[in-house]
Amino acid sequence: MPKCWLSLSLFLFAANTYASSQSFENTAIVRTVELGGAVVHVTTTYAIKALEDGQKSYTIALGRGEKEITSFLEAKVKGQQQALQVKERVLDVNEDYHLFDIVLPKSLTTNKTLNLVLETVQTHVTRPWPATAGQNEEQALNYSTNLFVLSPYATSIQRTKIKALTPRVNSFTIPDRVKAFSDSTPASKSGATVVYGPFEGIPPSTQSSFIAEYQQPVTVHYNHEQPVLEVLRLERSAEISHWGANLNIQDNIVLHNAGPKLKGHFSRLDHQTQAFYKRPAPHVLPALTLHLPSGIRNAYYYDIIGNVSTSKLRTAPSVPKEKQGTQFSVFEFRPRYPILGGWNYTFTLGWDSPLEDSTSYDKSTGRYIVEIPIMTPILGAVVNDEELTVILPEGATDVQYATPFPAGSTSVGTHTTYLDTTGRPALTFQYKNLTVKHAQTIFVSYKVSPLAHLKKPIAVGTAFLGLFTLGMIARRVNLTLHQKKKV
Ligand SMILES: *[C@@H]1O[C@H](CO)[C@@H](O)[C@H](O)[C@H]1NC(C)=O
Ligand SMILES: *[C@@H]1O[C@H](CO)[C@@H](O)[C@H](O)[C@H]1NC(C)=O
Ligand SMILES: *[C@@H]1O[C@H](CO)[C@@H](O)[C@H](O)[C@H]1NC(C)=O
Ligand SMILES: *[C@@H]1O[C@H](CO)[C@@H](O)[C@H](O)[C@H]1NC(C)=O
Ligand SMILES: *[C@@H]1O[C@H](CO)[C@@H](O)[C@H](O)[C@H]1NC(C)=O
Repeated sequence: MPKCWLSLSLFLFAANTYASSQSFENTAIVRTVELGGAVVHVTTTYAIKALEDGQKSYTIALGRGEKEITSFLEAKVKGQQQALQVKERVLDVNEDYHLFDIVLPKSLTTNKTLNLVLETVQTHVTRPWPATAGQNEEQALNYSTNLFVLSPYATSIQRTKIKALTPRVNSFTIPDRVKAFSDSTPASKSGATVVYGPFEGIPPSTQSSFIAEYQQPVTVHYNHEQPVLEVLRLERSAEISHWGANLNIQDNIVLHNAGPKLKGHFSRLDHQTQAFYKRPAPHVLPALTLHLPSGIRNAYYYDIIGNVSTSKLRTAPSVPKEKQGTQFSVFEFRPRYPILGGWNYTFTLGWDSPLEDSTSYDKSTGRYIVEIPIMTPILGAVVNDEELTVILPEGATDVQYATPFPAGSTSVGTHTTYLDTTGRPALTFQYKNLTVKHAQTIFVSYKVSPLAHLKKPIAVGTAFLGLFTLGMIARRVNLTLHQKKKV
């Protein structure tokens, strides 16, 4: 029994030193939530002050459940471009929060201050309310979050601003049990923004006692005038061909409108009337505009029925590799039917682009390096699930790759197509919950021996010869038949 007590108090002691470390104080925390549909951007600014010398890392906390909805997290010193290293602590299953250590650019001495900016992206956090809507009705969403930003350090003043795109905020939760930190009204709305706080004199809050007593969910109910879009599944294949000096990208996309489900039947007449008055219902998606790379050619787009001819593509001319990303081809995709709440639309979109626009060759190592875009962002949409396959040229060896952020899983295999002799190396990356922040590039590097270069022409040559021989035989047979007939 005494042993048991000993270990228990030791455990508590350890937890305390972790959680209520007095090495910093927060002079202010301001969290700004930019409401959206499927994707919500959150920026939290921590004005911090060191209370001890030699502070090299600062700890932040996400609430329980917040980690699962956070698909992107990046910390910077305010005003600087360089992202700071973030080390995730092992989750203690007994705790209601998740800790991350941010490595500071240089250690802080006592009384030194710094402004840290934490940027996160949350996905799948809004719920349509009401859950169904008629074709001519509005779309409103609920967003819920925890009232307090948790911190292992004491905080002098804290505020949360939740911003909608329009001032049409229907309701918001008024928090209770906050008298200890606020003597005025704890929640207010001004224009499109709901403000929680200011709350003053908050003790270190990564403590179960604080969480049990004060932490609480708050909900904002707001009108949202754009469809809530999810890509349920994206399969991108990127095929590198040295023989054709081509990079082919093909996306198979299952798009889903996650807004309120359509109540009643779809009326094309109502839809056309709305389109005529340029007032489409906010939860109906008539068209999508995508930015594709410049210099693309042979673009194609089709769905289960066939080519989608109502779509338009304006291609920008090819630009050199170092200028990529400054110009776009604009693709206006108009699905065969408007996509209503709860509906799916499956389509394929593909294009070719000059390989040199995304490839460099390192003479000293004999390596090719190709930049493969992970995804083409769809404004405001989340990609729930992606499989990206990079098909390398036949005979590529010493394959290496670098990803901007870790993939859920990665595998190496071979891909065999018509005219290939040995099959091609292929890399497959699996991703979940991608947003515009993840629209970055994977670098794939490999060598191709001059002999391997010849393989494809040889394969093509042989095939041609084969056809030619067959043709000859056919002609001969024909001739003989003719002759026989003549006879
Ligand atoms: C992706 O988002 C869903 C829904 O929010 C969540 O349940 C899941 O844990 C997330 N997956 C990953 C790998 O982040
Ligand atoms: C830090 O600031 C406090 C209050 O301004 C002051 O009393 C203290 O001496 C300072 N410490 C150092 C090391 O500068
Ligand atoms: C959305 O918010 C409203 C108002 O706060 C609430 O009555 C409703 O239950 C919420 N719905 C969901 C699905 O969370
Ligand atoms: C679809 O478009 C492609 C080129 O964009 C064309 O080659 C093909 O014949 C079209 N198919 C149909 C069924 O119209
Ligand atoms: C949309 O696709 C998902 C996943 O394939 C499926 O579960 C869902 O039933 C589909 N919805 C409709 C309305 O077809």
